[in-house]
Amino acid sequence: RHVAVLKGGWSAEREVSLVSGAAVAEALRGKGYRVSEIDASPDLAADLARMKPDVVFNALHGRWGEDGCVQGLLEIMGLPYTHSGVTASAVAMDKVMAKVLFQTVDIPCAADKIVTKETLFAADPLPRPFVVKPYNEGSSVGVVIVKPGDNFSPEQPGPWQDADELMVESYLPGRELTVSVQNGKAMAVTELKPRSGFYDYEAKYEEGKTDHIIPAEIGVERLSQIMDYAERAHEVLGCRGVTRSDFRLDDGPGGNGIPYILEINTQPGMTPLSLVPEQARHIGIDFGSLVAWMVEDASC
Ligand code: DAL
Ligand code: MG
Repeated sequence: RHVAVLKGGWSAEREVSLVSGAAVAEALRGKGYRVSEIDASPDLAADLARMKPDVVFNALHGRWGEDGCVQGLLEIMGLPYTHSGVTASAVAMDKVMAKVLFQTVDIPCAADKIVTKETLFAADPLPRPFVVKPYNEGSSVGVVIVKPGDNFSPEQPGPWQDADELMVESYLPGRELTVSVQNGKAMAVTELKPRSGFYDYEAKYEEGKTDHIIPAEIGVERLSQIMDYAERAHEVLGCRGVTRSDFRLDDGPGGNGIPYILEINTQPGMTPLSLVPEQARHIGIDFGSLVAWMVEDASC
Protein backbone atom coordinates (compact mmCIF):
# COMPACT_ATOMS: atom_id res chain seq x y z
CA ARG A 1 0.00 0.00 0.00
CA HIS A 2 1.07 3.52 -0.75
CA VAL A 3 1.17 5.75 2.34
CA ALA A 4 1.65 9.53 2.21
CA VAL A 5 3.23 10.82 5.42
CA LEU A 6 2.28 14.45 6.08
CA LYS A 7 4.92 16.30 8.05
CA GLY A 8 6.27 19.79 8.66
CA GLY A 9 3.53 22.25 7.84
CA TRP A 10 3.70 25.84 9.01
CA SER A 11 2.58 25.75 12.64
CA ALA A 12 4.81 26.64 15.58
CA GLU A 13 5.47 22.91 15.88
CA ARG A 14 6.87 22.50 12.36
CA GLU A 15 10.30 21.28 13.51
CA VAL A 16 8.80 18.68 15.84
CA SER A 17 6.57 17.40 13.06
CA LEU A 18 9.51 17.04 10.65
CA VAL A 19 11.17 14.75 13.18
CA SER A 20 7.94 12.79 13.87
CA GLY A 21 7.30 12.40 10.15
CA ALA A 22 10.81 11.20 9.33
CA ALA A 23 10.66 8.59 12.09
CA VAL A 24 7.23 7.38 10.95
CA ALA A 25 8.23 7.22 7.28
CA GLU A 26 11.33 5.18 8.03
CA ALA A 27 9.40 2.75 10.22
CA LEU A 28 6.66 2.29 7.61
CA ARG A 29 9.23 1.56 4.92
CA GLY A 30 10.68 -1.03 7.27
CA LYS A 31 7.22 -2.62 7.39
CA GLY A 32 7.10 -2.87 3.60
CA TYR A 33 4.85 0.08 2.77
CA ARG A 34 5.53 2.31 -0.20
CA VAL A 35 5.98 5.72 1.43
CA SER A 36 5.92 9.29 0.10
CA GLU A 37 6.78 12.14 2.43
CA ILE A 38 4.98 15.44 1.99
CA ASP A 39 6.09 18.65 3.65
CA ALA A 40 2.60 20.10 4.02
CA SER A 41 2.05 23.48 2.40
CA PRO A 42 -1.03 25.31 1.15
CA ASP A 43 -0.55 23.19 -2.02
CA LEU A 44 -1.29 20.03 -0.06
CA ALA A 45 -4.49 19.23 -1.94
CA ALA A 46 -2.66 19.36 -5.28
CA ASP A 47 0.22 17.26 -3.93
CA LEU A 48 -2.19 14.57 -2.74
CA ALA A 49 -4.21 14.62 -5.94
CA ARG A 50 -1.01 13.99 -7.90
CA MET A 51 0.36 11.25 -5.63
CA LYS A 52 -2.93 9.40 -5.13
CA PRO A 53 -1.90 7.53 -1.96
CA ASP A 54 -4.10 4.76 -0.57
CA VAL A 55 -3.87 6.20 2.92
CA VAL A 56 -2.45 9.25 4.70
CA PHE A 57 -0.37 9.10 7.85
CA ASN A 58 -0.82 12.51 9.42
CA ALA A 59 2.34 13.37 11.36
CA LEU A 60 1.53 17.08 11.57
CA HIS A 61 1.32 18.89 14.90
CA GLY A 62 -0.31 22.15 15.86
CA ARG A 63 -2.54 24.45 13.88
CA TRP A 64 -3.91 23.33 10.49
CA GLY A 65 -2.59 19.78 10.94
CA GLU A 66 -4.04 18.94 14.35
CA ASP A 67 -7.09 21.17 14.58
CA GLY A 68 -9.45 19.58 12.05
CA CYS A 69 -8.40 21.60 8.99
CA VAL A 70 -6.27 18.95 7.28
CA GLN A 71 -8.73 16.31 8.45
CA GLY A 72 -11.51 18.18 6.63
CA LEU A 73 -9.47 18.30 3.43
CA LEU A 74 -8.80 14.55 3.62
CA GLU A 75 -12.51 13.88 4.19
CA ILE A 76 -13.35 15.88 1.08
CA MET A 77 -10.72 14.01 -0.93
CA GLY A 78 -11.96 10.65 0.38
CA LEU A 79 -8.50 9.68 1.66
CA PRO A 80 -8.36 7.50 4.78
CA TYR A 81 -6.16 9.14 7.43
CA THR A 82 -4.71 8.27 10.81
CA HIS A 83 -5.74 9.72 14.17
CA SER A 84 -8.91 11.62 15.08
CA GLY A 85 -11.52 13.07 12.73
CA VAL A 86 -12.56 16.66 12.14
CA THR A 87 -14.70 17.36 15.19
CA ALA A 88 -12.57 15.57 17.77
CA SER A 89 -9.43 17.26 16.40
CA ALA A 90 -11.01 20.71 16.46
CA VAL A 91 -12.39 20.36 19.96
CA ALA A 92 -9.18 18.88 21.38
CA MET A 93 -7.09 21.70 19.92
CA ASP A 94 -9.25 24.27 21.66
CA LYS A 95 -8.17 23.69 25.25
CA VAL A 96 -11.15 25.61 26.63
CA MET A 97 -13.78 23.68 24.65
CA ALA A 98 -12.10 20.39 25.49
CA LYS A 99 -12.28 21.14 29.21
CA VAL A 100 -16.01 21.79 28.98
CA LEU A 101 -16.43 18.27 27.64
CA PHE A 102 -13.98 16.70 30.12
CA GLN A 103 -16.09 18.06 32.95
CA THR A 104 -19.20 16.33 31.61
CA VAL A 105 -17.51 12.99 32.37
CA ASP A 106 -16.14 14.11 35.75
CA ILE A 107 -12.48 14.56 34.88
CA PRO A 108 -11.01 17.26 37.13
CA CYS A 109 -9.67 20.35 35.27
CA ALA A 110 -7.91 23.53 36.41
CA ALA A 111 -9.93 26.75 36.55
CA ASP A 112 -9.42 28.88 33.45
CA LYS A 113 -10.46 32.10 31.81
CA ILE A 114 -10.21 33.41 28.29
CA VAL A 115 -8.98 36.99 28.37
CA THR A 116 -7.95 39.66 25.95
CA LYS A 117 -4.47 41.08 26.08
CA GLU A 118 -5.88 44.29 27.61
CA THR A 119 -7.71 42.58 30.50
CA LEU A 120 -4.74 40.30 31.15
CA PHE A 121 -2.51 43.25 31.92
CA ALA A 122 -5.16 45.43 33.59
CA ALA A 123 -5.50 43.10 36.60
CA ASP A 124 -4.57 39.48 37.37
CA PRO A 125 -7.44 37.37 35.97
CA LEU A 126 -6.81 34.60 38.53
CA PRO A 127 -4.86 34.44 41.79
CA ARG A 128 -1.15 33.85 41.23
CA PRO A 129 0.52 31.60 40.33
CA PHE A 130 -1.24 31.27 37.00
CA VAL A 131 -0.30 30.12 33.51
CA VAL A 132 -0.86 32.07 30.31
CA LYS A 133 -1.03 30.00 27.14
CA PRO A 134 -2.24 30.22 23.59
CA TYR A 135 -5.40 28.11 23.70
CA ASN A 136 -4.60 26.42 20.40
CA GLU A 137 -0.91 25.51 20.29
CA GLY A 138 1.09 22.52 21.46
CA SER A 139 4.53 21.56 22.78
CA SER A 140 4.27 24.32 25.43
CA VAL A 141 4.99 26.91 22.72
CA GLY A 142 4.33 30.33 24.24
CA VAL A 143 3.47 29.11 27.74
CA VAL A 144 4.35 31.57 30.53
CA ILE A 145 4.00 30.91 34.28
CA VAL A 146 3.31 34.04 36.34
CA LYS A 147 4.31 33.73 40.01
CA PRO A 148 3.69 36.05 42.97
CA GLY A 149 6.09 38.99 42.76
CA ASP A 150 6.89 38.44 39.07
CA ASN A 151 7.09 41.47 36.87
CA PHE A 152 4.68 40.94 34.07
CA SER A 153 4.24 43.35 31.20
CA PRO A 154 3.04 43.37 27.58
CA GLU A 155 6.58 44.16 26.41
CA GLN A 156 7.97 40.85 27.67
CA PRO A 157 8.06 37.86 25.32
CA GLY A 158 4.87 35.85 25.64
CA PRO A 159 1.88 34.53 23.74
CA TRP A 160 0.19 37.95 24.00
CA GLN A 161 2.54 39.20 21.28
CA ASP A 162 0.85 36.95 18.69
CA ALA A 163 -2.70 36.53 19.96
CA ASP A 164 -5.49 38.80 21.09
CA GLU A 165 -7.25 36.10 23.07
CA LEU A 166 -5.36 34.08 25.63
CA MET A 167 -6.10 31.30 28.02
CA VAL A 168 -5.26 31.87 31.67
CA GLU A 169 -5.27 28.80 33.90
CA SER A 170 -4.56 28.27 37.59
CA TYR A 171 -1.06 26.89 37.96
CA LEU A 172 -1.28 23.34 39.22
CA PRO A 173 1.70 22.31 41.33
CA GLY A 174 2.81 18.71 41.39
CA ARG A 175 3.94 15.92 39.13
CA GLU A 176 3.61 15.91 35.34
CA LEU A 177 2.05 12.69 34.05
CA THR A 178 1.01 11.49 30.63
CA VAL A 179 -1.09 8.61 29.30
CA SER A 180 -1.32 7.31 25.74
CA VAL A 181 -4.56 5.78 24.56
CA GLN A 182 -4.68 3.40 21.60
CA ASN A 183 -8.04 2.35 20.25
CA GLY A 184 -9.79 3.47 23.46
CA LYS A 185 -7.39 1.67 25.77
CA ALA A 186 -4.76 3.36 27.98
CA MET A 187 -1.19 2.08 27.55
CA ALA A 188 0.63 3.28 30.68
CA VAL A 189 1.34 6.33 32.85
CA THR A 190 4.71 8.09 32.48
CA GLU A 191 5.99 10.70 34.91
CA LEU A 192 8.08 13.46 33.31
CA LYS A 193 10.72 14.86 35.60
CA PRO A 194 12.47 17.80 33.93
CA ARG A 195 16.00 18.18 35.35
CA SER A 196 15.26 21.89 35.78
CA GLY A 197 12.28 24.21 35.43
CA PHE A 198 9.08 22.93 33.84
CA TYR A 199 8.43 20.48 31.04
CA ASP A 200 8.80 23.13 28.35
CA TYR A 201 9.76 22.92 24.69
CA GLU A 202 13.45 22.37 25.45
CA ALA A 203 12.74 19.77 28.13
CA LYS A 204 10.49 17.96 25.67
CA TYR A 205 12.84 17.71 22.71
CA GLU A 206 16.43 17.80 23.94
CA GLU A 207 17.92 14.52 24.94
CA GLY A 208 18.75 14.18 28.64
CA LYS A 209 16.73 17.20 29.80
CA THR A 210 13.90 15.16 31.29
CA ASP A 211 13.73 11.81 33.07
CA HIS A 212 10.84 9.58 32.04
CA ILE A 213 9.60 7.22 34.75
CA ILE A 214 7.38 4.46 33.42
CA PRO A 215 5.21 3.36 35.02
CA ALA A 216 4.94 6.43 37.26
CA GLU A 217 5.52 5.62 40.93
CA ILE A 218 2.17 6.82 42.21
CA GLY A 219 0.53 3.62 43.47
CA VAL A 220 -1.77 1.24 41.65
CA GLU A 221 -4.97 3.05 42.53
CA ARG A 222 -3.80 6.37 41.11
CA LEU A 223 -2.39 4.62 38.06
CA SER A 224 -5.71 3.05 37.22
CA GLN A 225 -7.64 6.24 38.00
CA ILE A 226 -5.49 8.32 35.64
CA MET A 227 -5.64 5.68 32.92
CA ASP A 228 -9.42 5.68 33.29
CA TYR A 229 -9.51 9.49 32.98
CA ALA A 230 -7.41 9.32 29.80
CA GLU A 231 -9.76 6.73 28.29
CA ARG A 232 -12.77 8.87 29.19
CA ALA A 233 -11.17 11.98 27.69
CA HIS A 234 -10.45 10.10 24.44
CA GLU A 235 -14.00 8.79 24.35
CA VAL A 236 -15.92 11.93 25.25
CA LEU A 237 -14.26 13.86 22.43
CA GLY A 238 -14.85 10.99 20.01
CA CYS A 239 -11.14 10.49 19.28
CA ARG A 240 -9.76 7.75 17.07
CA GLY A 241 -6.47 5.85 16.78
CA VAL A 242 -3.88 7.14 19.22
CA THR A 243 -4.09 10.13 21.58
CA ARG A 244 -2.09 11.26 24.60
CA SER A 245 -3.53 13.05 27.62
CA ASP A 246 -1.45 15.12 30.01
CA PHE A 247 -2.13 15.43 33.73
CA ARG A 248 -0.87 17.04 36.91
CA LEU A 249 -1.02 15.38 40.29
CA ASP A 250 0.01 16.91 43.61
CA ASP A 251 0.25 13.96 45.96
CA GLY A 252 3.00 15.46 48.13
CA PRO A 253 2.55 17.01 51.60
CA GLY A 254 -0.17 19.66 51.33
CA GLY A 255 -1.28 18.39 47.92
CA ASN A 256 -4.87 17.28 47.36
CA GLY A 257 -3.98 14.07 45.50
CA ILE A 258 -6.39 14.86 42.66
CA PRO A 259 -5.18 14.19 39.09
CA TYR A 260 -6.14 17.12 36.86
CA ILE A 261 -6.19 16.80 33.10
CA LEU A 262 -4.33 19.57 31.25
CA GLU A 263 -5.25 18.55 27.73
CA ILE A 264 -5.57 15.77 25.20
CA ASN A 265 -3.26 15.67 22.17
CA THR A 266 -4.84 14.15 19.08
CA GLN A 267 -1.55 14.21 17.11
CA PRO A 268 0.95 13.25 19.80
CA GLY A 269 4.64 13.48 19.03
CA MET A 270 6.32 10.52 17.33
CA THR A 271 9.93 11.68 17.67
CA PRO A 272 12.59 9.41 19.16
CA LEU A 273 12.12 11.18 22.53
CA SER A 274 8.34 11.12 22.38
CA LEU A 275 6.10 9.51 24.91
CA VAL A 276 3.65 7.47 22.86
CA PRO A 277 6.36 5.31 21.23
CA GLU A 278 7.99 4.85 24.62
CA GLN A 279 4.78 3.69 26.28
CA ALA A 280 4.04 1.39 23.36
CA ARG A 281 7.49 -0.20 23.76
CA HIS A 282 6.80 -0.56 27.46
CA ILE A 283 3.74 -2.68 26.74
CA GLY A 284 5.52 -4.70 24.05
CA ILE A 285 4.57 -2.84 20.86
CA ASP A 286 7.61 -1.72 18.83
CA PHE A 287 7.48 1.52 16.84
CA GLY A 288 7.07 -0.22 13.47
CA SER A 289 4.12 -2.27 14.69
CA LEU A 290 2.52 0.82 16.24
CA VAL A 291 2.66 2.93 13.08
CA ALA A 292 1.57 -0.02 10.93
CA TRP A 293 -1.46 -0.48 13.21
CA MET A 294 -2.25 3.22 12.82
CA VAL A 295 -2.14 2.94 9.02
CA GLU A 296 -4.42 -0.09 9.05
CA ASP A 297 -6.81 1.69 11.45
CA ALA A 298 -7.01 4.82 9.25
CA SER A 299 -10.41 5.86 7.94
CA CYS A 300 -12.35 8.81 6.61
N1 DAL B 1 2.29 18.60 20.74
C1 DAL B 1 3.31 17.57 20.80
C2 DAL B 1 3.74 17.17 19.47
C3 DAL B 1 2.84 16.41 21.61
O1 DAL B 1 1.80 16.49 22.18
O2 DAL B 1 3.55 15.41 21.66
MG1 MG C 1 -0.31 19.57 23.52
